[in-house]
This record gives sequence, structure tokens and C-alpha cells, in this order.
Amino acid sequence: MIQIRTISKIPEIKGKKVLLRVDFNVPISKETGEIQDDTRIVEALNTINYLRLKGAKLIIMSHLGRPDGEVKEELRLTKIAQHLEKLLEVKVKKLDQVIGNEVKKAISEMKDGEIIMLENLRFHSEEEKCEENFTKELANLGEIFVNDAFGTAHRKHSSTAGIANYLPAYGGLLIDKEIRELAPLLTESIARPLTMIFGGSKIDTKIGIIKNFINKADYFLIGGGLANTFLNAAGYNTGQSLCEKEKLHIAQEIMLECEKNREKLILPKDVVVAGEVNDEAETATVPVQDVLGDMKILDIGRLTADRYCEVIQKSGTVIWNGPLGVTEYKPFQNGSRMIADCLANHPCTSIIGGGDTADCIKKLNIPVKAFTHISTGGGACIEFLEGKSLPGIEILEK
Ligand code: 3PG
Repeated sequence: MIQIRTISKIPEIKGKKVLLRVDFNVPISKETGEIQDDTRIVEALNTINYLRLKGAKLIIMSHLGRPDGEVKEELRLTKIAQHLEKLLEVKVKKLDQVIGNEVKKAISEMKDGEIIMLENLRFHSEEEKCEENFTKELANLGEIFVNDAFGTAHRKHSSTAGIANYLPAYGGLLIDKEIRELAPLLTESIARPLTMIFGGSKIDTKIGIIKNFINKADYFLIGGGLANTFLNAAGYNTGQSLCEKEKLHIAQEIMLECEKNREKLILPKDVVVAGEVNDEAETATVPVQDVLGDMKILDIGRLTADRYCEVIQKSGTVIWNGPLGVTEYKPFQNGSRMIADCLANHPCTSIIGGGDTADCIKKLNIPVKAFTHISTGGGACIEFLEGKSLPGIEILEK
């Protein structure tokens, strides 16, 4: 089991300049520029409060989006700093630079317990390259490094990993919580049966995790665009559905590996189809063998959802990653809603693998408290469950 040095082990916090890496890469509305979901910010509050109330001079760092080393006005952290200030009810001084003299000056004027937020780290291309001089410049801003950015822990960047070469590094309370919830899933001591529900569109992002659990999981329930690739690989016509034709061999390989236990990998038996993908789309539910022509598969059908619920109801642990339909639109939400409702009401360990699945659950108004854990990591959560060592966690290991 992974053991990290957490902030409770920092010998002296009062008066120290603490560089805190968080993942405030939150969804922002393209139209209004407003934050659409502040979960990642809310989840970091415990660490921020812990450090500031102990008298740290807190310097918060994050990225937002993928500006590729350029300053993009819409990706400035100003709105995020304002939102944090509202949540904390204390001043957060937002700077428009990441490094440089102005930043150094602002930090030199800080009093104990005060908070500064630096600009979007990825306005510097050096960040993602973990470039040495940039990393040193960042490290020079502080005396202690705290990583609480679980969502970015799979990236070996200056602010997530490199900086630990120059400063004592500790894990924040969120990263610690994520590890405590997710790490047991990689061991044998979990409540069984273990069911894994996979949706979303891309098989590449699921292959590693499916392989890591192929001998351990009791059931794989497949939905979303991913299911179309499996159905196509199994010989079904998927019409005009999203389907990764060039990845059929991967689906076939997984199906073959699951063949020893025919019940393990369960594909949809019926699906919701439509010709259009919008809120007004006219839909029909058909058996998978009846999909043809220009039909698009956009959700799992009711029979399939019932079958998946039966499996969930006998499971001891359920891990869910990826919506089962195109849940951005109402006509294709039903499958995910049935599964989310069922899981929310079944007393088992239920782990939601971050990103799109967490958004989907919120959109469906299912209380997040109904689940054991909703990870703040998308790719990071997947890589963790693939059994990979994450650079942002490695640096914290005892
Ligand atoms: C995420 O949202 O998964 C993290 O913030 C990492 O973002 P990235 O995929 O752009 O590195």
C-alpha cells in the first residue's frame, strides 16, 4: 500500500512560504467564462485552510486548460481566484505572472496566513517539459512544497514533480484521501464481487485499466461509445454510431481474454438509437441485432440497464468510469440515470472515476454523498487504477 508524507508531518508551518500545487483545471463555460463545476476547488479547501490557519504564507499554483505555453486571456486564473476567495471568505491575491520580479516582490510582502495565487502555470511551455531552470525558479519562490493536485499527479511537470528536487515535499489532504480510497482497489482485500462499469467513447483510455483488472474483476459492464466498438468487434452492425473501427482488434483481444468466463464481459442487448443527437431527437429502443443503416446508438436500452442493475445489486465493490450514453442530451440520459440510481441505493463500495462520470452524476441530480468516493482525477484516476506509479505521488512516497 502506498504511504505518503502528508502535511501533518511538516515540522514548522508558521511563517513559512508554502508552494501549494492544486488542480483547479475546472470546466469553464465558453459563452460566459463562468466556472461550471467547482468540485476540484471545494475539495482543495481543507488543505488550504489547514495551511493558512497554521500561519503559512500560502502560494497557490495551478494550470487551467491547455494553452501550450502561450498567454490565453480566457485561461487566466482570475475568475478561479475570485471564486476561491468567496469560498474561503478571505482575500486571495491573484498575480498575473507565474515567476519574475513582481511575483518575488509580492511574496516578500506576504504576512503569515495570507494567500497568493500565481497565474496559469501552462502559460510557460517549460512547465510541461519539467524544464530545469523554470522548475528552480518556481522552487525559489517557496520553502516547502505541498502537492494536492491529484488530478494532475499523472503528469511529470515542474510544479507536480520537478519542484520536489529542490524543496521538502508533502502531500495535501485531498491527494491523501484519493490514495486512501483508490489504493485498496488494487489489493485483494476488497468486497466482492468486483464490478467495473466502463462507458465514454475511447477504448484507448480504458484498455490499461481493463487489462489490469482482467483477472481480478468479476464483471465488466460496457456502455457508451466504447460499447459500439465492442459490438462491432463482435460482428454487429452499428450503423452510423461512433465506433473506433481501427481499434476493433483491441476489443477483440479483450473479449478473447474474458472468454474463459463468458459472463465476465457484458455488452448491451438493446440500445437507444436516433438519427440526430440533440435534445429534441426522436428515439427508439431496439435489440442490438436490429441496428442498421443510418441509426446512431446513443444510450444503452432499458433491458440492458436492468441487467446491469442486477449485477450491481449483487456486487460488493463497483468502479464506474464513463457515462453510458451521450448524457449531454436528455433523450440519452436514461441508461446512466438507471445505473447511477441503482448504484446510489445499493450498499456497496462505490467508486466513481472522476471527470465525465462525476459531471454526469451531478447533471442527473443524484446526490454525490450516495457514493463512497468520487475521484477528482480523470486521467490520473485511470492511470492509478492501471497500477502505474504517478510522478506527482512518487515524490511524496515515504
Ligand atoms: C485533468 O483534468 O485531467 C487534469 O487537470 C490534467 O489535465 P491535462 O490532461 O491537460 O494534463
